[in-house]
Amino acid sequence: MTNESAPTVQIRPYRPADREAVHDICIRTADAGEDATASYDDPNVLPELFAHPYTHLDPNLAFVADDNGRVVGYVLGTSDTARFARRFRTEWLPLVGDRYPAPPGPPNTPDEVMAHLLHTPERMVQPALAAYPAHLHIDLLPDHQGAGHGRALIDTFLQALDGVPLHVGMVTANHRARGFYDRLGFHEIPHPDPGPLTYLGRN
Ligand SMILES: CC(C)(COP(=O)(O)OP(=O)(O)OC[C@H]1O[C@@H](n2cnc3c(N)ncnc32)[C@H](O)[C@@H]1OP(=O)(O)O)[C@@H](O)C(=O)NCCC(=O)NCCS
Repeated sequence: MTNESAPTVQIRPYRPADREAVHDICIRTADAGEDATASYDDPNVLPELFAHPYTHLDPNLAFVADDNGRVVGYVLGTSDTARFARRFRTEWLPLVGDRYPAPPGPPNTPDEVMAHLLHTPERMVQPALAAYPAHLHIDLLPDHQGAGHGRALIDTFLQALDGVPLHVGMVTANHRARGFYDRLGFHEIPHPDPGPLTYLGRN
């Protein structure tokens, strides 16, 4: 007999076998929360920038939402953004940089913008964010959004962080994510030059 009210989604630590699913989820949610596949000539740069370096450098802060063996979401991050940026340069970039060369001049296309970001990890270290040393990325597949899994992922991440203040840089146009973060107690961090992002913090 099945119990229809039994939860099928569990939050658990990331495992190397989850790599392909995390890769896919990242691309399918990277355009202000929507599918970014059609926005890039090679969208595979997106997880090399926003997902895989975290599981590689900070595996203890990588968690997935697992629906009966299918990975449907993740939260990834670091407790120390400055250290992460240094290791991104020395340990991560040598693994992927050649595949996505830095553009020769100012980036002109979406692919070039991402390649530029890949080759400038120091951009993550900003005085305005210094009081919030940790940061995260969270994404769930569309059919698993709005069911409490985002809150569960953040709760798990915060528990693992053990009190380190946290920031998130979100695309300002992603109004849905903003409602989520507001509901979870994040507040806007004043920033002199936010570009297309809004920075939110949580102590
Ligand atoms: C943003 C995202 C992670 C949120 O996760 P989620 O599972 O959809 O959110 P939850 O169902 O856990 O919501 C948690 C709480 O926030 C509230 N909430 C969520 N979105 C909201 C919104 N747009 N406005 C107001 N409240 C919102 C929920 O009602 C819920 O409240 P409660 O727990 O007090 O009942 C998820 O929707 C997602 O992956 N979106 C696409 C990718 C993305 O935008 N990632 C963030 C990039 S910065």
